[in-house]
Parts: sequence; C-alpha cells; structure tokens
Amino acid sequence: MATVQALRTLHETYAASNTCALKESATQPVFGDGNPAAEVVFVGEAPGKNEDLQGIPFVGAAGKFLDEMLESIGMKREDIYITNIVKYRPPNNRDPEPSEKEACAPWLEAELAAVGPKLIVFLGRHSMNHFFPTEKISAVHGKLMAKTIAGIPTKYFLPLYHPAAALYNGGMRDELMYDFQKIPLALKKIAETKS
Ligand code: URA
Repeated sequence: MATVQALRTLHETYAASNTCALKESATQPVFGDGNPAAEVVFVGEAPGKNEDLQGIPFVGAAGKFLDEMLESIGMKREDIYITNIVKYRPPNNRDPEPSEKEACAPWLEAELAAVGPKLIVFLGRHSMNHFFPTEKISAVHGKLMAKTIAGIPTKYFLPLYHPAAALYNGGMRDELMYDFQKIPLALKKIAETKS
C-alpha cells in the first residue's frame, strides 16, 4: 500500500517531467488527494479555477456536490482518493485536448497502480474514455464494468456523470444521485466475488 509520502514523491516526479502544454497557463499542478488506502478512487476530468488556485482536486461547486453525494452513502473525503486525468487547469475550463490527456495519462496510471483500489469511479467521459474508448457515458453510467488493464491492479470500474455537468441539470442530477448509491453495492459485490 502506498503512503501519503510515497504518493507525494510520485506526484512531484511526474510534475517535474510532465510535458503537458497546460503547464504554461496553470497556476500549479493539482495532485491527486486523499486516503492512500482507499477502496474507491474517483477520477475526474481536469482542475477548475478553485482547484488551480488551491492545488486540491474538487474543492469548487462540483466538489461540494460530490461531498454531499459521498455523505449520502455514508462516506467522507477522508475515505476516498480523488484525482483527475489532466493535472493542469485548461484555460476557461474548456475540455482537455487529446494531447493534454495523453501527456498526463502515465501519471494517472502510476497513481492508480500505487493506490490499487478495489473500484475506480469515473466522473465523466474524459477519464472513462481513456480506459474504455468506445463507450458512451450516456449508455453506461451507473453500470459496473470489469476489465483487466495492464499495470493497474483494479478490475472494476463504475462510470458516472460528471458532477459539474449534473449540477444545474435536474434530470442528470437525479440520475447521478441514483447512480452514486451503486458505489456501496459495487463494493459489496466485489468483496463477494472471488478473483
Ligand atoms: N472538475 C474536475 O473534473 N476536476 C476537478 O478537480 C474539479 C472539477
């Protein structure tokens, strides 16, 4: 199991060698954050304005909504580990470009390998499509998926809508709240499944 210090060193090493063009405009890299022994890792898209300023993922409006949903399943931030596929804020919160995702992908894969959670929850299509390139989030959100991925010990993945997209869209918000309840069910199912 990785330690907080080992993860910090991992992040500093990847930040120093990273070639993402967003490095130029971002205030700082936003490292993954949370419990290195977490059973669940959440992977978002890219830092927004608040995350860029504070250097911590999901501290803005989407993060507050995420905290509410965590509370609804009896979890807290301290129980999870959370990160983004892209570690630098895209200007004006535009979608990250494929080259920006590619530049940060080995960094994400290294932290996922270090934490080795039982379940990886994708927040939105950007992180999901890195591992499941042909899936559509509208079709697979809330569905537990199993896959063996080289270099990552985790075998189970749950794609969800991105909390920022759902924040101001009532229907999507309800679906996300509903799908979120599948996290404890997925963990129970994984615990009962012999690998
Ligand atoms: N949206 C993301 O995808 N990541 C963050 O860290 C904040 C908002």
